[in-house]
Amino acid sequence: MQNPPRWVSTNGDVERPNVARLYDYYLGGAHNFAVDREFAEKTMEKVPTAAIVQHTRAFMRRAVRLCVARGIRQFLDLGSGIPTAGNVHEVAQQADPTCRVVYVDNEPATVAHSRTMLRDNAGAAIAEADIRDVDAVLATPEVRGMLDLSRPVALLMVAILPCIRDDEHPVELVARYRDAIADGSHLVVSHLTADEQPDLVEGLVGVVAETSTPIVARSKAEVEALVSGFDLVEPGLVLATRWRGEAEPATGAEAVSYGAVGVKRSNR
Ligand SMILES: C[S@@+](CC[C@H](N)C(=O)[O-])C[C@H]1O[C@@H](n2cnc3c(N)ncnc32)[C@H](O)[C@@H]1O
Repeated sequence: MQNPPRWVSTNGDVERPNVARLYDYYLGGAHNFAVDREFAEKTMEKVPTAAIVQHTRAFMRRAVRLCVARGIRQFLDLGSGIPTAGNVHEVAQQADPTCRVVYVDNEPATVAHSRTMLRDNAGAAIAEADIRDVDAVLATPEVRGMLDLSRPVALLMVAILPCIRDDEHPVELVARYRDAIADGSHLVVSHLTADEQPDLVEGLVGVVAETSTPIVARSKAEVEALVSGFDLVEPGLVLATRWRGEAEPATGAEAVSYGAVGVKRSNR
């Protein structure tokens, strides 16, 4: 690529469509390349990807508002993507300007652009780290400098656990984060599922397999295992569109993700 934009890191994978930049395109953002846009348009002929992404973001916003209402003022967003309009820091800081948000992503262009977007926000930052390395995430200057993990935090894992394969032990991964956060901390999770729309989700998994970040769908029982050790707030683990929100019928794009918010159960 000749003369990439300023926010593009030279070590980013800019030759293949990338899930963070595809997300940005589906959300109406400008931080994507021709390779992403062409892929996104081709994908949308087969699968309603833009609607799926928008439903996920809407769930995230409802969940963040609930966390603020329940007293949470610090957020750790794992696999955050590009903070396109309506992201965690905007929602949380609109509710309370003292909220602090650390985003984490391992995609260099995402991190570079996020840094530019957040540079004037003293309460929000992005750390470049692989979420599979819990110690590395927690040791980043952004986490150490901005979050107090001895106090409750909201841990966001929104549309990120499908990027973690079974042989990378996602249950143990969530448990390691759970062990590192204070009692009363909240987990916000959404996860792709083929329980309701198997053909649609099989199509989605198939097209995403062509990107640099393949994904896996999981059943309700598998997602329940991921949130063990957290007491789920009402209405529990349900389709994300149904979680305190949209009343549309659960068909197509509205029925491909579960969502839940849980509170870390005290070990005492
Ligand atoms: C499907 S997007 C979800 C973005 C955001 N959470 C949302 O819901 O809009 C997944 C994001 O996770 C990032 N990602 C994937 N695997 C990762 C890993 N192992 N460590 C850190 N980030 C990762 C990707 O770069 C991408 O930005």
